[in-house]
Amino acid sequence: MFNSDLLKNKRILITGGGTGLGRGMAERFLELGAVVHICGRREQVVNQTAAELSAKGAIRAWPCDVRDREAVESMIDAIWKNGPLDVLVNNAAGNFIARTEELSPRAWESVMGIVLMGTLHCTTACGQRWLKEDRRGTVLSISATYAPVGSAYVVPSAVAKAGVEALMRSLAVEWGDRGIRMNAIAPGPIPTQGAFSRVVPLPQLEKLALERNPPHRFGTIGELANLAAFLVSDGSGYINGEVIRMDGGEFLQGAGEFSNLGRILKDEDWQALKPKKNEGAKR
Ligand code: HXC
Ligand code: NAP
Repeated sequence: MFNSDLLKNKRILITGGGTGLGRGMAERFLELGAVVHICGRREQVVNQTAAELSAKGAIRAWPCDVRDREAVESMIDAIWKNGPLDVLVNNAAGNFIARTEELSPRAWESVMGIVLMGTLHCTTACGQRWLKEDRRGTVLSISATYAPVGSAYVVPSAVAKAGVEALMRSLAVEWGDRGIRMNAIAPGPIPTQGAFSRVVPLPQLEKLALERNPPHRFGTIGELANLAAFLVSDGSGYINGEVIRMDGGEFLQGAGEFSNLGRILKDEDWQALKPKKNEGAKR
């Protein structure tokens, strides 16, 4: 889909890059010539991913909890010493389905700490350095389709992702005059162990998710990684402050008043609904 030098020598940090979508983006970015940094809380996981992907290019793993601002500052400092980043991908997240009235304060803090504060820590750590050094930079955040409308049963995540999108849109304007671009991807369901074990943990939920999606399939990590590669590349240089939804049309399916008719009405129903021959003339 792209020339193999699309991201040549671009230095990219992917938070939560040890697993799932983050790992998929790391792999794709390496194939396109980038120098990749990944971070996550579990040192063994990020190290193993870096070791497995190292055949594709230069990749370095950093154990780091993005909720901890000082830990983020130390990691970014250490990365910068070897050469400044060009791109930050805010991908790390925490989420699970639960009834909101049963959530403990720690549950709220945990998800909002990872998603909102983690994104804020990484974005400001990179942004401040880019601005100080008069350097161009790009931030891509991985959001979710429910960020603008909210969603029952994943409320801490919905609140935090909405904040991430507000942060991204605000800074797209505030920093846009100094060469910094901010965008986001809102993916629909893409099978990863981390996400599906927490938000689609039962077969009936998976069946429901497949039924409501117009193409009746889930997205793939490769599709997400290609869109991400485009959005962090110079080829998308005029896209700033956008959220690109990538969900097979699932979001729109939920919004349309009559969109569910196709699931209920059969061919004979549609035939019966057609005006009878000459009926119009009689009226
Ligand atoms: C209710 C829960 C819970 C659950 C955890 N908690 N899971 N409460 N229902 N299912 C509560 C705990 O009881 C605890 O509160 C508090 O949350 C913190 O839990 P810990 O396990 O101590 O925290 P931590 O180790 O920081 O783990 C964070 C986590 C965990 C978010 C809870 O799930 C995690 O590590 N997630 C990272 C990966 C991830 O979530 N990936 C999916 C992203 S998918 P108390 O009060 O008991 O101490 C996504 C979009 C999907 O974001 C969209 C699909 C279409
Ligand atoms: P995942 O595999 O669970 O990825 C989450 C990653 O974040 C993990 O590698 C995890 O590693 C890391 N992480 C969590 N807390 C962290 C912290 N405090 N500090 C640093 N890293 C942390 O799930 P995924 O499906 O790939 O999700 C990736 C992104 O896509 C998330 O932003 C998610 O909200 C978004 N998304 C996914 C889907 C989907 O269907 N898959 C749909 C919409 C949006 P550690 O546990 O080692 O820290």
